[in-house]
Amino acid sequence: MSKALLSIRDTSKHFGTVRAVDEISLDIMENEFFALLGASGSGKTTLLRLLGGFEFPDSGSILLDGEDISRIPPNHRPINLMFQSYALFPHMSVAQNIAYGLEMEKLPRPEIDARVNEVLDIIQLSGLAQRKPDQLSGGQRQRVALARALVKRPRLLLLDEPLGALDKKLRSEMQLELKRIQDKFGITFIVVTHDQEEALVMADRIAILKDGQLLQCGSPHEIYEHPQTRYAAGFIGTMNFFPVHLSGKTLVMDDGGRISAAIPEGLTEGSEAVAAVRPERLHLAHKAYKNKLTGRISAIAYHGLDLQLHIEAAASPQPVMVRLTADEAEGQPLSIGDDVTVGWSAENTRVFRD
Ligand SMILES: Nc1ncnc2c1ncn2[C@@H]1O[C@H](COP(=O)(O)OP(=O)(O)OP(=O)(O)O)[C@@H](O)[C@H]1O
Ligand SMILES: [Mg+2]
Repeated sequence: MSKALLSIRDTSKHFGTVRAVDEISLDIMENEFFALLGASGSGKTTLLRLLGGFEFPDSGSILLDGEDISRIPPNHRPINLMFQSYALFPHMSVAQNIAYGLEMEKLPRPEIDARVNEVLDIIQLSGLAQRKPDQLSGGQRQRVALARALVKRPRLLLLDEPLGALDKKLRSEMQLELKRIQDKFGITFIVVTHDQEEALVMADRIAILKDGQLLQCGSPHEIYEHPQTRYAAGFIGTMNFFPVHLSGKTLVMDDGGRISAAIPEGLTEGSEAVAAVRPERLHLAHKAYKNKLTGRISAIAYHGLDLQLHIEAAASPQPVMVRLTADEAEGQPLSIGDDVTVGWSAENTRVFRD
């Protein structure tokens, strides 16, 4: 995973006045599982269509192995796109559905059969090869659609919301399944999703898109722990935001509490900003931490392994979310209406200029 397979360079695509893709530059590595994450309308599908050759960019270029493919039609690119709404042929069996693309290529029968069997084996549907799509579950149909794309052995497989039609449980099973299959085939995957949890679970790297622009790109850990913008911080996972202002060299919260954190460059005396802290970084054992806030418990929710508190505090316009591990909560008599103080460290505080 060291060589760039695909380079997207200053690429833009406009529809009238809409900048669907706005000067995006991005390298995707060989064998990488890459996720494009963004809200509806952020340009995810448009970017995939540019990569697949279904749209051509207005400006910029797309290189595959260093060669400009921006204007090459889809069928001449070693890239396969699995569309947002995939459709299997209802009158064909699973095996026939998978073989179809290879038959179009007029490959010899023995090779087609060998490749279909290989793919069926990897997606673990060998026993269902003769079934029709309407005799399969949603997850099985999804795997057949994936097999149909994989059997053509593309260098790069583009998947637009591949798990969008599945229910929550099946979805989380298929997330791991997709990762296993990608690993087994050694094919580079670019997967579009608007589900941040899904991107964190599956991807080697994530790119966050907003209004056609690339906001941030990095590993799940980087994106989760070091969001570079307030938008990215709020988009991924749960985040508490506390309004602060700079007084001298210190950040002060709305309840008058002083907090320590890295101060963003260019933040001037008196100006306002926002401090962001994850719920799992707030602790009841506040004496060990420099940063603190006090409030009143307004809700308690058990989530099996952890316990979530909502705290009404003068420092925050919204309830502060605190996630305690079972160990942390043990022996702490917590009730709605209690006053509590929570603490957190400077390292786990991100400050954004508003
Ligand atoms: N063919 C088109 N003609 C005009 N506008 C388009 C066209 N395709 C996309 N757009 C616009 O470009 C923007 C990006 O659309 P795109 O489909 O790429 O978003 P997306 O991130 O895939 O959203 P979703 O999560 O809803 O699928 C949107 O504002 C959309 O309305
Ligand atoms: Mg889309």
